[in-house]
Amino acid sequence: MKVSNVCCLGAGYVGGPTMAMIAAKSPGIQVTVCDFNQARIDAWNSDTLPVYEPGLKEVVESARGKNLHFTTEIKPAIAAADLIFVCVGTPTKSYGIGAGRAADLRYIESAARLIAEVSDSDKIIVEKSTIPVKTASAIQTILSANNTSEATFQVLSNPEFLAEGTAVSDMENPDRILIGGEQTPEGQAALESLVEVYANWVPRDRIITTNLWSSELSKLVANAFLAQRISSINSISALCEATGADVDEVSRAIGYDSRIGPKFLKASVGFGGSCFQKDILNLVYLCESFGLPEAADYWRSVVTMNDWQKSRFVEKIVRTLFNTVSGKRIAILGFAFKKDTNDTRESAAINVCRDLIAENAQVIIYDPRVPRETIHRDLLEVGVSQEVIEQNVKVVADPYQAVEGAHALATLTEWDEFRALDLPRIYDLMLKPAFVFDGRAILPAEALSKYGFKAFVIGKG
Ligand code: UDX
Ligand code: UDX
Repeated sequence: MKVSNVCCLGAGYVGGPTMAMIAAKSPGIQVTVCDFNQARIDAWNSDTLPVYEPGLKEVVESARGKNLHFTTEIKPAIAAADLIFVCVGTPTKSYGIGAGRAADLRYIESAARLIAEVSDSDKIIVEKSTIPVKTASAIQTILSANNTSEATFQVLSNPEFLAEGTAVSDMENPDRILIGGEQTPEGQAALESLVEVYANWVPRDRIITTNLWSSELSKLVANAFLAQRISSINSISALCEATGADVDEVSRAIGYDSRIGPKFLKASVGFGGSCFQKDILNLVYLCESFGLPEAADYWRSVVTMNDWQKSRFVEKIVRTLFNTVSGKRIAILGFAFKKDTNDTRESAAINVCRDLIAENAQVIIYDPRVPRETIHRDLLEVGVSQEVIEQNVKVVADPYQAVEGAHALATLTEWDEFRALDLPRIYDLMLKPAFVFDGRAILPAEALSKYGFKAFVIGKG
């Protein structure tokens, strides 16, 4: 079947950019992105997109109104589509069995029920959301049990590997596209239809096809391996601080080994983002469910190390500031989980700020892309009360305002603009001794000491 009408459920960080790219690269395909959140859809239809990604606006504008549409009219979009991407959220369960580890699949399930309800023609359903292995068969069961017509459904797995901040280039030139399908003639035909969509711009040899379960599992494993590298280097960052080694030098030295490779070896205050922790916990839950506690413990330790890295950083600040930060002003530079995104999900900054506030510190936060409302919401979600936020948290519009009268400054996101800060000016604005805690190792170390800062740099001491 040749695909000519695509619909996507979920206009988030994954659905929006991915569909924009498919539309831009495939003028012959009509693409409709749906979401039940009207404000989000309005934003996709406006000049201020809900997702900040370098280059995304240009891609959206090249196709929007032609073959790219954003709407809350979900049912007609499903009815008209021959291929449906499911990109709804799959948060970690916060209640009941598997709480804190298993994925909450209620949005996936309601998407499947809706598709069954409104479909009267054959459709290919593509799971793009990260989900536990064997979700495809659950979707297939719901579809068959609720089918009210003669329509047939084929479920494919097509995990997304784009990273935020580089989503446009990752999609334009992907390392690989992974598609899993059933090992039946119908399954293979559906798989071929989706291959054709990507082949509009991706070389065929980069489109990998597998069985359904391998594809679903590969997404979790890819993220677990990436996060594992960060936890590994972060564990070494602590050892470097203790011994006088320099973690960047160690990363460079080991990264030259072509078997190890140079990427994802940058020590930091801890990884964040909507995927790493969630996917590892998912993998842990899977291992447990299949009676493999040793494998579960192994992967859980990647998250434990990440939590330790964040709390270790706060302890370092408190100890250095003469064992108390009570009433002291700490300037926080960066709140997003990485540079070039406005996303703060699981950002290390959330825990760091929460813990500093618990020590009664005043935190003055600057991030070039994250608005005040997001910061307040994130802190509320981790248990900081509205009253305490009003008293102890200030969000400011430039870094120099943040450091004015501050006892310490901490960098938590590696925004490029922080590398070019006017350090003498910052030194003048801060209380003395002027303490710097560089959680991303981005400030020029020699300049810091030249201008008189007392600096702690992650992995360097
Ligand atoms: C999400 C998941 O977090 C991730 O695991 C998965 O791989 C892809 O989907 P993301 O796009 O970053 O990633 O999430 P989010 O920005 O929250 O977008 C999900 C969107 O789906 C939201 O806009 C939400 O309003 C929408 N949604 C959710 C629906 O339209 N219908 C639903 O039933 C549920
Ligand atoms: C990740 C995967 O890279 C992507 O393939 C998948 O589709 C979604 O999850 P993302 O979370 O957007 O993407 O960003 P990523 O670049 O992987 O960074 C995740 C976190 O790790 C960030 O907080 C980042 O700052 C941190 N990180 C990354 C490090 O601390 N050190 C590194 O060397 C690399």
